[in-house]
Amino acid sequence: MAPDETEPLDLARTMQETWIDRVHFFKEIESTNTTALRQVRENDPAGVELFVADRQTGGRGRGSNAWWSGPGSLTFSLLTAPLDLPTDQLPRVSLTVGLALCLAVERFAEPAGVALKWPNDVYLAERKVGGILIELASGLAHRPVIGVGLNVNNLLTGAPKELRSTAICLRETCTGSPLLDRTEVLIECLTQIERQLARLQSGDRSLPDDWRTYSLLTGQQVRVQRPGHSTSGLCESIADDGSLLVRTPQGIESCYGGEVSAWFPGERER
Ligand code: BTN
Repeated sequence: MAPDETEPLDLARTMQETWIDRVHFFKEIESTNTTALRQVRENDPAGVELFVADRQTGGRGRGSNAWWSGPGSLTFSLLTAPLDLPTDQLPRVSLTVGLALCLAVERFAEPAGVALKWPNDVYLAERKVGGILIELASGLAHRPVIGVGLNVNNLLTGAPKELRSTAICLRETCTGSPLLDRTEVLIECLTQIERQLARLQSGDRSLPDDWRTYSLLTGQQVRVQRPGHSTSGLCESIADDGSLLVRTPQGIESCYGGEVSAWFPGERER
């Protein structure tokens, strides 16, 4: 197989081994999240649906960021069954999906290097391996679209320059750099998302401890930027409600969203 080719996903197996009721596969599409959002708005289907693409021409990240993905990556959006949760639980949904991806990535990588960067970036060896974009169609907050981009076999050599030193793919951490089976990675991600969301919905009180165990930012100096407001200080922890706790000269501030930059105490801001 040529280095820029993508081995086909086994979607029949994915359906057999996971909670997915229906798969929509696209060789190329603008964004699986955009398509999944349209599906909720127009049809609000009863079951769990997966939208997966080999290539996105307009992949979106959080905020105004784009999502780059080369051949061999995984890009998918999941439309879950209606979630039995109040709408103010979205920060907890976000962290829980992040935790699920950490647990999935851990199966294919060196576990010690896997971390969750609040609110839901997945890191491996201090570089970003995966990102999550959760979006709601208006009036349908109980059916979030969970978009996942994971660098699996896509080497970063073809990535935009700024990503080459900050991102990583799973394949880079495997001895001998073999190609990973993307179907297995996809199945593991879907299984973990189902499992961890079930814990959230059943009110499992140990779940926040698991977010905290994987937290990359705890103990680091952080700057959390939101429109018109920025908080700087030492990241103390992640609270049970999903907020990031930052110690500032005025006391502990709970941050519910924003762009985070981080650096270790004593280092200069990166
Ligand atoms: C981020 O880290 O900023 C979030 C990235 C999310 C990317 C995924 S790829 C599949 C889905 N479709 C999109 O357009 N975005 C998400």
